[in-house]
Amino acid sequence: MLYSRRNFIRQSVAAGSLLTLPMLPSFAEEKKTKVRIGMIAVGLRGQDHLLELLKRSDVEIVAMADPDKNMMAMAQALVKKYEKKAPAEYTNGPYDYRNLLKRTDIDAVFVCSPWEWHLQHGVDAMEAGKITAMEVCGALKLQDCWDFVNTHEKTKTPIMMLENVCYRRDIMAVLNMVRKDMFGELLHLQGGYEHDLRHVLFTDGQTENEGVDFGEKGFSEARWRTQHYVDRNAELYPTHGLGPVATMIDINRGNRLTRLSSIASKARGLHNYIVKSPKGGPNHPNAKTVFKQGDIVTTQLQCENGETIVLTHDTSLPRPYNLGFRVQGTNGLWQDFHSGEAEAGFIHFADKSPHHEWENPKKYIEEHDHPLWKKYESQSTTSGHGGMDFFVDNAFIECIKRDVEFPLDVYDLATLYAITPLSEKSIAEKGQLQEIPDFTKGLWKTRKRIFGVSGEF
Ligand SMILES: NC(=O)c1ccc[n+]([C@@H]2O[C@H](COP(=O)([O-])OP(=O)(O)OC[C@H]3O[C@@H](n4cnc5c(N)ncnc54)[C@H](O)[C@@H]3O)[C@@H](O)[C@H]2O)c1
Repeated sequence: MLYSRRNFIRQSVAAGSLLTLPMLPSFAEEKKTKVRIGMIAVGLRGQDHLLELLKRSDVEIVAMADPDKNMMAMAQALVKKYEKKAPAEYTNGPYDYRNLLKRTDIDAVFVCSPWEWHLQHGVDAMEAGKITAMEVCGALKLQDCWDFVNTHEKTKTPIMMLENVCYRRDIMAVLNMVRKDMFGELLHLQGGYEHDLRHVLFTDGQTENEGVDFGEKGFSEARWRTQHYVDRNAELYPTHGLGPVATMIDINRGNRLTRLSSIASKARGLHNYIVKSPKGGPNHPNAKTVFKQGDIVTTQLQCENGETIVLTHDTSLPRPYNLGFRVQGTNGLWQDFHSGEAEAGFIHFADKSPHHEWENPKKYIEEHDHPLWKKYESQSTTSGHGGMDFFVDNAFIECIKRDVEFPLDVYDLATLYAITPLSEKSIAEKGQLQEIPDFTKGLWKTRKRIFGVSGEF
């Protein structure tokens, strides 16, 4: 099932050598053939990436670090299934990953840890000179975003944000249509994370869809993600919605996000879920938990070049999956409605569609299929999240092999991660406008577009 939990030529950029991949001694010797990987955190998402990497002949998994021995056993079982050499294990507590980072036989690391660990893992990896693939989330504090940028600029170690939804097939076809100017000048975009996560937020791993456990008794994201819903009220997961639309309007590459305002609805969904669950009920201790996170968080953003964006975070109510994309220009618009299927949505072009009528987008999505998808279709069919996991990992590996810049870099990471703490402040201040820092310090004016330009990655 498409969305089950299991289931980029160096551009001359204004920053010049600052942004190029460092020639690490160990890396330079082997750069065109093999990338030696260390995994930091091999929970469910880490295992998704591990699976993608195990399929490749140009990757060697050297070592894995995770204090959870069950997750480590699951990861080692995957390696065994692919008949690859068992990677070295680092399971001795939450800081054993630092011993993995000391190894000289690792070129790059994947970081797939809980949100509260991303900054520490990312900074330590860059300090150790390991090229970093960073899973997505939003920052805990605005300063975290500057720490990512400052560490990258100090160490020159590249870091890529693993925003897989940027590679969704319909999204890339729409990006293709945007770049062919079919929508005209873009004015307004929408996206979000509209995914009922209640069974993920409450599970002990045994009673999926019915459990109400989280924290110590929880499994996978229920161990840590749910606590964010207790402690915070914010656009908690901005990158899936914002990443794809940001590539369409060249954020940080000719355009930038300038300010935002967020509001949150009251919180009802998670409490109701606990009370109504057969494993919970009104007398269950978790029924007393007060969730701060509003069920629907709406964020409006402004861009330097005059576009507006609306982001929605909606993960604690009963609802079918839909990231709710809308891409609207002076000549037409596309709205998506489900999980990336070509036919699931609506499209209208002033110069092509019947007057005032919606069309099914399928024929346009298929006709304007992105060259990357045409090239890698067969390799990506069995890959996670409808194939997009292949593309995001392929980009990371191919860029390292070619010694070229990542399409989604540290500035994209900092900008998108910043939405979370800024939205949190805005909600706390009743929707007050918040300025979004320019993490590129002016370089956005001259940085060139990379995402989706190369036919290779
Ligand atoms: N892009 C996507 O489609 C997608 C999908 C799912 C999750 N994610 C992201 O991936 C990340 C991980 O999520 P997940 O679902 O795998 O969670 P998970 O709970 O299944 O896995 C997290 C793992 O991190 C380990 N860990 C915790 N502290 C650690 C430390 N100090 N050192 C090493 N390992 C440590 C845990 O033991 C656990 O195994 C999150 O940022 C999440 O938002 C992205």
